[in-house]
Amino acid sequence: MAGDPSRVVVLVSGSGTNLQALIDAAEDPAYGVRIVAVGADRDGIEGLKRAERAGIPTFVKPVAQFTSREHWDTALADSVATFEPDLVVLAGFMKLVGPGFLRRFPHRVLNTHPALSPSFPGMQGPADALAYGVKVTGATVFVVDEGVDTGPIVAQTVVDVLDDDDTDSLHERIKVAERRMLVDTVGRWAREGITIINRKVRFGQ
Ligand code: GAR
Repeated sequence: MAGDPSRVVVLVSGSGTNLQALIDAAEDPAYGVRIVAVGADRDGIEGLKRAERAGIPTFVKPVAQFTSREHWDTALADSVATFEPDLVVLAGFMKLVGPGFLRRFPHRVLNTHPALSPSFPGMQGPADALAYGVKVTGATVFVVDEGVDTGPIVAQTVVDVLDDDDTDSLHERIKVAERRMLVDTVGRWAREGITIINRKVRFGQ
């Protein structure tokens, strides 16, 4: 790979298994990614501990510490910008970033959602898919826009729903496929860049 690795900031809210997959992939210089910081909206989560164990700087911006959602959004964007990222990855980040945040990193914020968009947006993708009775679901990596899980789709992966699935078993199986897809997608973005025309995303400039 030619050139410096892409600088990536990852935002998390929970267990951080997607983050861990990215940390592990980034150990290989050929992957083309350097995770320069990990941010969270809450303290004490395993995602932050994973970053600390890997020697990656962390920051925490709880919404409750700010007088408005806009102030939080600005402070979060300021913290992210400190690390001069080429790409921001929301990996299980359970808050919507606002328009102010997105303007700071145009077309450079990726999210991963545990459903096949445009089905089942929001916080409970696996539960909603299970309740609807679909036979396949999966995960979607997309470029974040101002909607809820509505941005241009970069990659999707399909997972069968089994007769005896509950939300946890389904989500865990989705996450196995999701981690693989996220690692592949972030690496390709870093090495090849992306082009978006009329919502259609392809790798390459
Ligand atoms: C992932 O499945 C991710 O898609 C989901 O949270 C999980 C985080 O797992 N995110 C959302 O539902 C966002 N709407 P992890 O903390 O183990 O990476």
